[in-house]
Amino acid sequence: MTNPSDATLVIIPTYNELENLPLIVGRVRAATPEVDILVVDDNSPDGTGDRADELAAAHPNVHVLHREGKGGLCGAYVAGFQWGLERGYTVLCEMDADGSHAPEQLRLLLDEIDDGADVVIGSRYVPGGKVVNWPKKRWILSKGGNIYISLMLGAGLTDMTAGYRAYRRDVIESLDLDELSNAGYIFQVDLAWRAVSGGFDVREVPITFTEREIGESKLDGSFVKSSLAEVTRWGVRHRLEQLCDIFSVTRRMFQHEYRHWKRSRLR
Ligand code: GDD
Ligand code: MN
Repeated sequence: MTNPSDATLVIIPTYNELENLPLIVGRVRAATPEVDILVVDDNSPDGTGDRADELAAAHPNVHVLHREGKGGLCGAYVAGFQWGLERGYTVLCEMDADGSHAPEQLRLLLDEIDDGADVVIGSRYVPGGKVVNWPKKRWILSKGGNIYISLMLGAGLTDMTAGYRAYRRDVIESLDLDELSNAGYIFQVDLAWRAVSGGFDVREVPITFTEREIGESKLDGSFVKSSLAEVTRWGVRHRLEQLCDIFSVTRRMFQHEYRHWKRSRLR
């Protein structure tokens, strides 16, 4: 029997991950030898791109996409998705290079896809999910952000900012990737929200997110305000649409009742 996850591409974006890259590639190859890996490097000044080429030369299931310069995580994933779609992969995954997303848990996501899910999010905030070694401040920011997002959008997901994911190819094919918000990591929320709004089966599985030990995060706080504004805009639009729906259903009900009443008076 064939499963969608039989042709899986794991996309690993890198910017200055020289020491982390061989570790993560080694772990993915050990845990899930059946998947292919695409490293998307944005011309990292520390030479991560050359290291990626060496790994690709040594292992046939490792590939590299070089981009000209630091174009942001969203752009790196969009380029990776397109690369994977062109080559016929049926499942496309997102994974950080710094070890925060354990390759040993990838199968949890893929099994859920094989079980019928369209998108699977490795979640820190469903029961069983964990975060290891995060400063309290970062945890509060992430958890608080996710609570706000779920209040605004009501998507029924606990971790819409998460970056450990698996998508069936038709989900990615159906979305207009050029339209994604590129600021910071808000595109993750955008992707999940579009998938939910598009009626896809989006599920969460609990994962353990471990803060990186080597190198630095590329996330700074500056995007938080603009991201929250963006989410608020989507939420307000969504609630207005819901209101319009309720309004038009109610109007139809009244029209129906009124016609009924008029007919009964004429009789
Ligand atoms: N190619 C490329 N270009 N890669 C990038 C860029 C870029 O501009 N910016 C970041 N990356 C790569 C990093 O090298 C790393 O592999 C991965 O993207 C994640 O970057 P981090 O800087 O380690 O992100 P984080 O740990 O702060 O953020 C995590 O949590 C976010 C919020 O929950 C990630 O898991 C995000 O995906 C997640 O949205
Ligand atoms: Mn990280």
